[in-house]
Amino acid sequence: MKLHSLVVGIAAAVLSLSVSAQQPIVIKFSHVVAVDTPKGKAAERFKMLAEERTKGRVKVEVYPNSQLYKDKEEMEALQLGAVQMLAPSLAKFGPLGEREFEVFDLPYIFDNYADLHKITQGPIGANLLKKLDSKGIHGLAFWDNGFKVMSANKPLRMPADFKGLKMRIQSSKVLDSQMRDLGAIPQVIAFSEVYQALQTGVVDGTENPPSNLYTQKMHEVQKYVTLSDHGYLGYAVIVNKKFWDGLPADIRTILDGAMKDATKYADDIAKQENDDALAKVKASGKSEIITLTPEEKKAWKKVLVKVHQENEARIGKDLIQSIYKETGFDPAKL
Ligand code: LMR
Repeated sequence: MKLHSLVVGIAAAVLSLSVSAQQPIVIKFSHVVAVDTPKGKAAERFKMLAEERTKGRVKVEVYPNSQLYKDKEEMEALQLGAVQMLAPSLAKFGPLGEREFEVFDLPYIFDNYADLHKITQGPIGANLLKKLDSKGIHGLAFWDNGFKVMSANKPLRMPADFKGLKMRIQSSKVLDSQMRDLGAIPQVIAFSEVYQALQTGVVDGTENPPSNLYTQKMHEVQKYVTLSDHGYLGYAVIVNKKFWDGLPADIRTILDGAMKDATKYADDIAKQENDDALAKVKASGKSEIITLTPEEKKAWKKVLVKVHQENEARIGKDLIQSIYKETGFDPAKL
């Protein structure tokens, strides 16, 4: 009898072990862009590395293209724990109360990826991610996308060309100032609805890196694309903090490693992805590509540099100054 209950006990223990072995930890990773973009590809890379290295103890389910949640909803879903991981653009942290992330939206603050990386890969970036803790969010990494183009159905060569145009923006007050300073009327619209808003004339134009413009087919409903490089769009990869802190320590370490490698991958491919997307927009013949002359670019900079000062109180003068110091940016030289 005793032996029998021992055998039953062992069998039950083995069964429960194998059940738990079959029940992987699931990370739902929701995002709003196409798979064939820097973020889409990096999310897939993270999934592959995480599943391989945890030998199936972790399963990452990636939901691209706003399949699961749109911009605003995904932030709420993360905080509620309905999804575990996101990579929202840095322009979407304002509604969360994290206005400092909007510093990345300041026009022309980064001249190139090297300057940007001084922040995203340095102490200022790490400090920004740390600030998310108080919102129940753990910041894991920054992922690159790229520098934005402006599009519309009329050529945008000079700031005056924006007058009265309704321009779609992300939910960032800095982007709101940017469009107002150009004389346009900004409208916040979820990314998943931009194509339709452009097609139906709800808005006249928008801004995005070429990878987003092309994969959402925005160029098919925008006659002109200006290579303004007036601002940067990139991401912070974030997880629900309670979920993250509750993971077994060995799993967390492996996932940290997978994220580090996925981040390197994202940053390695971002520029090329955007160059390729722009080439495809050109080849499609649907939009005319406008390259600004040095004088035209100067006129844009002259108008848009004001956005920095206008948003000092919102973002924090110290943060803006610390970025200037790190990158050597001087607004007086624009
Ligand atoms: C946008 O809304 O335009 C972008 O943030 C989309 C994205 O995630 O790249």
